[in-house]
Amino acid sequence: MNVDTYIQKMTLHEKAAMLQGWSTWTTFPIPRLGIPEIFLADGPHGLRKQTGSTDNLGMNPSHPATCFPTAATMANSWDPALGEELGRALGAEAAAGDVNVVLGPGLNMKRSPLCGRNFEYFSEDPYLAGKMAAAYIRGIQENGVSACPKHFAANSQELRRMSQDSVMDERTLREIYLTAFEIAVKEGMPKALMTSYNMVNGTYANENAHLITDILRKEWGFGGFVVSDWGGDNDHVEGVRAGANLVMPDPGACCAADLVEAVESGRLDETVLDDRVRELLNIVMSTSEAVQNAPKTFDKDAHHALARKCAENAIVLLDNDGILPLNIDKTVAFIGDFASTPRYQGSGSSIVNPTRVDNLLDSAKAAGLTVTGFAPGYSRTDPTAQTSLIEEAVRVAKNADVVLLCVGLDEISESEGADRSDMALSPGQNALIDAVCAAQENVVLLLTGGSPFVMPSREKYRAAVHGYLHGQAGAGSMIDVVLGKVNPSGKLSESWPHRLQDNPSAPYFPAPERTAEYREGLYIGYRYYDTAKIRVRYPFGHGMSYTTFRYDDLRADGKSVTFRLTNTGKLDGAEVAQVYVSCRNGKVIRPKKELKGFRKVFLKAGESQTVTIPLDDKAFRYWNTDANRWELETANYDICVAASAADVRLTATIRICGVEGQQKDLPSYRTANIMAVSDEEFEALLGHPIPESRWSGEITRNDAICQLYYAKSPVARLVCKVMGWLIKRSEKTGRQDLNLTFAYNMPIRGLSKYGKVFSSEMVDDFVFLCNGHFFRGCGRLVRDFFKAQKKIRTFMHKLKEQ
Ligand code: BGC
Repeated sequence: MNVDTYIQKMTLHEKAAMLQGWSTWTTFPIPRLGIPEIFLADGPHGLRKQTGSTDNLGMNPSHPATCFPTAATMANSWDPALGEELGRALGAEAAAGDVNVVLGPGLNMKRSPLCGRNFEYFSEDPYLAGKMAAAYIRGIQENGVSACPKHFAANSQELRRMSQDSVMDERTLREIYLTAFEIAVKEGMPKALMTSYNMVNGTYANENAHLITDILRKEWGFGGFVVSDWGGDNDHVEGVRAGANLVMPDPGACCAADLVEAVESGRLDETVLDDRVRELLNIVMSTSEAVQNAPKTFDKDAHHALARKCAENAIVLLDNDGILPLNIDKTVAFIGDFASTPRYQGSGSSIVNPTRVDNLLDSAKAAGLTVTGFAPGYSRTDPTAQTSLIEEAVRVAKNADVVLLCVGLDEISESEGADRSDMALSPGQNALIDAVCAAQENVVLLLTGGSPFVMPSREKYRAAVHGYLHGQAGAGSMIDVVLGKVNPSGKLSESWPHRLQDNPSAPYFPAPERTAEYREGLYIGYRYYDTAKIRVRYPFGHGMSYTTFRYDDLRADGKSVTFRLTNTGKLDGAEVAQVYVSCRNGKVIRPKKELKGFRKVFLKAGESQTVTIPLDDKAFRYWNTDANRWELETANYDICVAASAADVRLTATIRICGVEGQQKDLPSYRTANIMAVSDEEFEALLGHPIPESRWSGEITRNDAICQLYYAKSPVARLVCKVMGWLIKRSEKTGRQDLNLTFAYNMPIRGLSKYGKVFSSEMVDDFVFLCNGHFFRGCGRLVRDFFKAQKKIRTFMHKLKEQ
């Protein structure tokens, strides 16, 4: 049946019901018309289809699924074809498990190393993130199911993620925070897309017509459905008007009843509702058919092997003085708890119940290494230095030719819902590193974590191999890299600053109150370090190999770059060649150089290849905020072919003819001196006054529960205090209470999005209560509770009438 025929047969109440969830993971089915429910499930690097009780924070168990490396890891492969293969397997597992929509990939920009969800995101660079995301989407959707790139847009911090407002100028928004989505949408053609929790320039992402209608649908041609993040919608009627379709999870029928009320009162035209239902129904019908016809099993071993191949291609050799590859005759000792209990994925909604998990210790033994001992060395639930564990580690360390020291970020350090407070490893790990490196001169670091951390000083160790969060099969790949069975070819998809203060967002991150001011503008990651000439520990695009590569014979024009790449070493290997574009003499302020192309090339020892990398419509463009369009500035541009952002091997200069560039006078941005941008200059960049950030006056429905700290009502302040105290207590045990942290950072309106008891009016009553009207607030709450129950009853009655 044609989708429009369904719409003609649907009642207003059914249409409204379709645009909200009816369980944590499913939509509203209409059996009388043969419209099935669809199932949406996380996530970005493996399926999380829950088995019993449901939640959106990964607390309850889920069906076993392959845990692939997380996005932060996969981006280090710089291999979209491999990303597509991963996506294909992920989509097959989804279809086999009757899941219609895979909630991923996540492609927000890594603005700060501290964002708790960096491990789920690809990169600090929109071009790389966009290409990887598009590949995942194509792979997932080959199975007929839908991918759902997220979180659209400008969601780069976890703290108060549901109530903060990302404030930035349009050029920064377009060039940095939207470009990855643009590539993902145009080149991946996702059937669904998830909006973010935050506001973007004063309007919630899920009801932001500029983002959803003007840019996503009209400019980029997105034809699928838009789903809110779980509990992330604000005003459903406004969301639907702005182009968003589905509200998740199941806010209670109040939400659908609001839509009916809006149509009946003339606030919302029914044709708008029809458009939203049509966009959603198209995907409901097509994915349901695909899921129905899909095989109901998948090859667990083959997917495990694929997970291992993904990790192999993504592992980054950060440092090596020649100790690696390790001679198999050397005896090794493993130090560090991660060696036996790997940390291979992050926490929160993306958490996967793996089909199996390999660990370093067993993988090393299986590979034939002589392991003389193992000591955990630190506790991952108590960050302080444990003298007895360190002493034991030192004893074990002395007993082998080489120590493989397994350190990095532990579970408590990075998770959805919370940001890190600094870039340091735990004091316990740092003390262990010092002690072991003092006792043993041959230390190889095997690193874990989804975001940069402060590395020990270089002279302490001989080599460092970083597996990031390498998924269930990555331990074997790490050992293969150590032994040289795999020649490492991963390169960093993000810069590693020496210290947090060097990061361009450091003065502005996280947003202290209502607004997150992106004062650093375009200067994210290497765009800043490069322009401001700040030395970093590891530059963007860095990664060593056991072989060497020569670049020569460059030719470039406005359409493509061609050069010769030769493997000059004795081992086969792959190189990630990167193309950066740098404007030499334009008027427009730009970062020193920006990534505009890349290619991973495998070459046998001694082999040469002519490599051509296309330059697309994004290579030279910049967003002219005054003209409100992309423009090419007439100027000379350097085309740099590089082995990393700090290692340019070849340069050619070409001329691009476009229009004369226009630029406001913004001296701090001209010199990348953006660590203390004045209010005046930020306003000039924004083109309007800076929105008020500080809490002032009354609590509102969009203030987070943690902001009840300011409430007039002592009861509300007490609730806030007790919650804060409970969270601190849980952190001390090493296991953060994610539910509580989530609730603490949730805006008050969230009460109506998660609890089915609270209506929108009751949220206002609660706010009234918090603002010092305790008894009258309670009275209104009781009154509106009964009103809401009646509204739901009436809605459900009408819904069933058909
Ligand atoms: C996360 C989303 C996720 C959703 C469903 C939210 O908390 O932000 O990324 O897809 O939960 O689990």
